Amino acid sequence: MIEFIETTKEFQVGASTVTALNHINLSIQKGNIFGVIGFSGAGKSTLIRTVNLLEEPTSGRVLVNGKELTTLTKKQLREEKKNIGMIFQHFNLLHSKTVFENVAMPLIISGVKKSNLEGQVKEVLAFVGLTDKADRYIDELSGGQKQRVGIARALVTKPTILLCDEATSALDPQTTKSILALLKKVNIEYGITILMITHEMEVIRDICHRVAVMENGRIIETGNVLEIFSTPREETTKNFVQSVVRDEIPPSVYEQLKSIDTSKKIYNLKFIGVDVGQPIVSQVAKKFAVDVNVLFGNITELQGIPFGHLIVELVGSDKEIQKAFLFIQAKNIQIEEVVARESEHTNYYRSGSRYAVHG
Ligand SMILES: Nc1ncnc2c1ncn2[C@@H]1O[C@H](COP(=O)(O)OP(=O)(O)OP(=O)(O)O)[C@@H](O)[C@H]1O
Ligand SMILES: [Mg+2]
Repeated sequence: MIEFIETTKEFQVGASTVTALNHINLSIQKGNIFGVIGFSGAGKSTLIRTVNLLEEPTSGRVLVNGKELTTLTKKQLREEKKNIGMIFQHFNLLHSKTVFENVAMPLIISGVKKSNLEGQVKEVLAFVGLTDKADRYIDELSGGQKQRVGIARALVTKPTILLCDEATSALDPQTTKSILALLKKVNIEYGITILMITHEMEVIRDICHRVAVMENGRIIETGNVLEIFSTPREETTKNFVQSVVRDEIPPSVYEQLKSIDTSKKIYNLKFIGVDVGQPIVSQVAKKFAVDVNVLFGNITELQGIPFGHLIVELVGSDKEIQKAFLFIQAKNIQIEEVVARESEHTNYYRSGSRYAVHG
């Protein structure tokens, strides 16, 4: 549906060249919500802007529904662009016009007569929940309402692709949630493919199916959201994942480690796609001569699949702890021992699996 093939974009700044996109290869399938995350300056906006030719690649290609937009005539390009909606961080609305007039604008530009557009505008306004605000001016709206206008304007030409450049970055967390829910509805009810640029991993967690991580103009890692959250490979990806799934050991647990004796061990249990509700803690305590203390937990949901971790302390003989370890492992729960690392950073740890079995 959207394909980047060796896409490269360079900007000439004075005598020097900035490579914003460096040989990008990426495919975004129809019907997906695809997230691209990266730090400021990674090239995310440049990437998304090559899709609707707000930026033309210096080399390489971008195919949208199999068509390379740079090869089209002006008329064909105008037609194709109706197929691609876009929303922005700062909404980019016309302040001197009403909500209705803003949403109608793309239709007017594409030559639809004013007398024929009312139905389409009203339909998208109802979809985004702004029917009662049609005659208001933009300055009279909240940030969330402005972004709803942005979304309605992007949808009014019935696109198959929606590009979102930091669409929730200017909004508070509560409003962000409601806009993300609306974008999910756009994806499900209209089947629109969404390409979503963000620097917030929460956005990726909450609505994306797949994600690519960008750094210095390159895609450094890509995969489905569950894969990326559970087994990030690159350091940058790990940092982004850490920002929402805090699986570092909290200081209170560190205190416990300092006073550790041989009858106590601390373990990190990772639940990925397994039934978090299974009474693993009580089962271990019943089956083995081991006491289980839950020290810390963080369970979230990704694409409807439970995901998270639990830090527990097992108290008992080495032999009984080993049995409990193998029992937990057999339940498809990743388990690692948490041990203190000698480091100048006091709350910095290493995990090791003492009883890991293979096969
Ligand atoms: N029009 C331009 N002229 C010169 N350099 C540019 C231009 N647009 C982008 N760049 C440079 O290209 C690189 C990538 O910029 P881009 O805006 O794509 O990053 P980004 O990932 O969207 O960052 P942010 O999260 O801050 O929006 C940066 O080094 C930027 O300075
Ligand atoms: Mg940007």
